[in-house]
Amino acid sequence: MTNARFLKACRREPVDATPVWFMRQAGRYMAEYRALRERHTLLDICRNPDLATEVTLQPVRRIEVDAAILFSDLLLPLEPMGLPFDFIKGEGPQIETPIESPEDIDKLRIFEPRESLSHVLEAIGLIQRELAGRVPLIGFAGAPFTLASYAIEGGHSNNFARTKSLMYGHPESWHRLCDMFATIIGDYLNAQIDAGVDAVQVFDSWVGTLSPADYREFALPHTKKIFDAIGTRVPTIHFGTGTATTLEDLRDAGGDVIGVDWRSPIDDAWERIGYDHAVQGNLDPTLLLGPVQRMFSQTDDILERVGGRPGHIFNLGHGILPTTPVEHVQMLAQYVHSSSRRR
Ligand code: CP3
Repeated sequence: MTNARFLKACRREPVDATPVWFMRQAGRYMAEYRALRERHTLLDICRNPDLATEVTLQPVRRIEVDAAILFSDLLLPLEPMGLPFDFIKGEGPQIETPIESPEDIDKLRIFEPRESLSHVLEAIGLIQRELAGRVPLIGFAGAPFTLASYAIEGGHSNNFARTKSLMYGHPESWHRLCDMFATIIGDYLNAQIDAGVDAVQVFDSWVGTLSPADYREFALPHTKKIFDAIGTRVPTIHFGTGTATTLEDLRDAGGDVIGVDWRSPIDDAWERIGYDHAVQGNLDPTLLLGPVQRMFSQTDDILERVGGRPGHIFNLGHGILPTTPVEHVQMLAQYVHSSSRRR
């Protein structure tokens, strides 16, 4: 398994072809996922190890991906902390009682992931048995800023006004909340590694809303605590979007591989991050809607910018959109492999 293309690229070792996987490679763009969702809610799938295993494997069967990603959701740790939530059709996640004040933070608790999220750990064992070494399995969790933003906003936000108000208005409480997230997520990712994942990705999807100085003050120390807790046990990927001005700071927080979104040319980004790190990215997910010629030419551009330097993992700059034709995803994975094949 340590010889898998994806893991080699994480370690910046030469590979026979550029490894590729897609954020949100399991999901609504696939007919077999939609069929399962007619009978089960998203949370049912996340909480049932057999269903989570089935959905994790769906893209591996259909698309030439070089890694599987555990099917779960970023928000699962919120409930055992004392923040129950649900997914509302067409709207996304909704936290029942979002954090409004420092007193609400006092009521939250640190929990034992091996108990409260044991179903996720059980799914990892089942998935690894089913994968039988075909491709590595990526585990994941959210970074403190992104998790705090859901806990405070109650769902998705465009301006993160409540989050920033709490951050600026009650910095001590903010740091206490994020430190609690960091402790929990570090422990949870170590539990995923114990259960058998081959690599982990930390998603800080919305951290791009912070200026570099605010990132360093309010987010970096907490994300760093997570990467420090994992150490060198498995390769780590650190992903965010809107991070064109904070890439160096993201790198300083940790991660062997730094995710780059489509807003930055990948060669510029890599130069700034430094060649002692691997990079992952960075096609605009919208290009997968078509026309395919444009998807291919932009893929060529990314591969040319990378120039065959070891340590590139091909991915999108963010997750696959639900309206994406599955054939385009299949064609793209094949295209990345055939265009980057080294003899
Ligand atoms: O294939 C994979 O990538 C693994 C599965 C996965 C899911 N969520 C399943 C899911 C992963 C890696 C996540 C992470 C996640 N969850 C993130 C970080 C990644 C990112 O996109 O930035 C975030 C912010 C969440 C929180 C979340 N979950 C939101 C905002 C939503 C609603 C938005 C939407 O796309 O509908 C979800 C729901 C969710 N999680 C779906 C899936 C497949 C939607 C599918 C459904 O409703 O059936």
